[in-house]
Amino acid sequence: MLFNMCGIAGYVGPKNAVDVVFDQLKRLEYRGYDSAGIAFRDNGNIAVVKRAGKLSELGKALHDMPSDTHLAIAHSRWATHGAPTDLNAHPHYDAYEQVAMIHNGIIENYLDLRDELVAKGHLFQSQTDTEVAAHVIGEEYAPGVPLEEAVRRAVKRLRGAFALVVISKREDGKIVAVRNASPIVIGLGKGENLLASDIPALLPYTRDVVVLEEGHLAVLTPEGVRVLDEDGRDLPLRTERIDWDVAMAERGGYEHFMLKEIHEQPAVIRQSLAGRIDENGQVRLERVFSEHVWTEIDRVNLIACGTAYHAALMGKFLFERLLRLPTDVYYSSEFRYGDPVLSPRSLAIFVSQSGETADTLAALRLCKARRIRTLGIVNVVGSSIARECDRTIFTQAGPEISVASTKAYTAQVMVLTLLALYIAQVNEAAGIRVDDWIGELMQLPEKAKRVLKTEPQIVEVCRKIQDAPLCFFLGRGADAYTALEGALKFKEICYVPTQESPAGEMKHGPLALVVPGVVAIFGATDPATADKVVSNMKEVQARGGTVVAITTDEDTVVHKAADHVLQVPHSKHEFLTALLSVIPLQLIAYHVARIRGCEIDQPRNLAKSVTVE
Ligand code: F6R
Repeated sequence: MLFNMCGIAGYVGPKNAVDVVFDQLKRLEYRGYDSAGIAFRDNGNIAVVKRAGKLSELGKALHDMPSDTHLAIAHSRWATHGAPTDLNAHPHYDAYEQVAMIHNGIIENYLDLRDELVAKGHLFQSQTDTEVAAHVIGEEYAPGVPLEEAVRRAVKRLRGAFALVVISKREDGKIVAVRNASPIVIGLGKGENLLASDIPALLPYTRDVVVLEEGHLAVLTPEGVRVLDEDGRDLPLRTERIDWDVAMAERGGYEHFMLKEIHEQPAVIRQSLAGRIDENGQVRLERVFSEHVWTEIDRVNLIACGTAYHAALMGKFLFERLLRLPTDVYYSSEFRYGDPVLSPRSLAIFVSQSGETADTLAALRLCKARRIRTLGIVNVVGSSIARECDRTIFTQAGPEISVASTKAYTAQVMVLTLLALYIAQVNEAAGIRVDDWIGELMQLPEKAKRVLKTEPQIVEVCRKIQDAPLCFFLGRGADAYTALEGALKFKEICYVPTQESPAGEMKHGPLALVVPGVVAIFGATDPATADKVVSNMKEVQARGGTVVAITTDEDTVVHKAADHVLQVPHSKHEFLTALLSVIPLQLIAYHVARIRGCEIDQPRNLAKSVTVE
């Protein structure tokens, strides 16, 4: 599965390399970015040109550049560390400007490495983890050492999930790339070779590719490509031919961006944990408030819209159940006009994928005017909410293109979970086994993969419920919150009316809507309330409704009552099982929409980022 934060391109061959890599970047424009840059050979040196903003800004800066350069690498950044500025844009040099490097992913131990290098006298221009990695390569690049060997040695000092691409002043006509959990695809040409993070950037040049495998390193020259293992031994080239069209390639071979993003969730969960759990099994959050602040906070207000609001509800569940910290959740639009009562010791948390939602931004400004502490949980680095909050934690979900949000939700809940554990840790909250939670969190990527493997069963269920005139989404506890998210996905892309509520509320009104043909989808992942949920299922079935249950692989009760059963792996903490159950809910919405022939990535009447009030 390709999961890229940033766009990467590289070319070595007889053509004007700057033109080729710039063209490659243009072909990655669809994925979004906030800054871009190029490094190329110029008179025996490596020149670097980079600009924040649109590619046209970089294009203007490249206007008078030499046209006879035959080696270049390029990068479009989707920031995870450091704001999107000219300085933070890639490529980055090492300390001696011998090598230039671009990077995708996260170097988890960059702060420790940076301290080590600063102690040795290194100076850094940017706040990025990338520049630190470039300096590590520079250190390993002693005279006589080939670039690929320096990169191989440097990688052993780096921790995280990343791909690196490097060129050197000392070795003309050579690009070195290494893959460590972030994808690199090499394009094989005649007398030229290329590489990219995503296949669309290769298609105009070649359809013969080598997908670099985990831990492997590639050396590209005009004459050929070598692939080496972790120990520097040559490996045979495994070539594939890509017959996707451009649109298909942009979606990583998936039919829609929404499906691609649903499938990215195991990687997104892993990425949201990256660099945030230290060797001692403790949560490490950078750039949050100092430790004493967390003891002062008496109340949390979570403020968001839409899917982010549903993620915030999951945060409330955890803050109250785990931390016993009173927490309110507000729709941004209601908060800002609602004259909220705010304790001076409270913390306001703003959850937003885009970081630009107008109502959330207005709510943030209201809190700032009232001098309340503000914290953002945001996906887009450099966005307005990220900039204006006192502190921001980034969700690291990568660009989300489908209007219906999926992976951003999962990443938001992951960050809220890490935050709750962090607060428990700094406050030394009694009775909370942070190490135990971390152990469970580390298993989630694998469990999410197992949920995705049940997609064929989910499609079967979707065929049975595709004609429902009305669909209920129900649950208790955390399942009641994921039910809200399942319903939102369903109405957004299936255009079928939904009725969502806690399962126990059914008999106080909504049950009147149940007639034959109506479908009720129950989240039933918590064994503590399984019996009660079963009673609610019976109420629906007695009136002719069809029941779909999402339960766990350890369930002994629910599956006996439901008409159709879907399972997610059990987790010791029911909250995490509920979180995983959002994946079948997303897939139900996706497949019913597909069967019904609905527009999926751009549903009618909706926009990805709502910047109007
Ligand atoms: C639903 C969806 C929206 C957004 C909402 C908030 O699939 O995407 O409900 O969640 O517009 O957007 P952000 O998170 O960008 O503030």
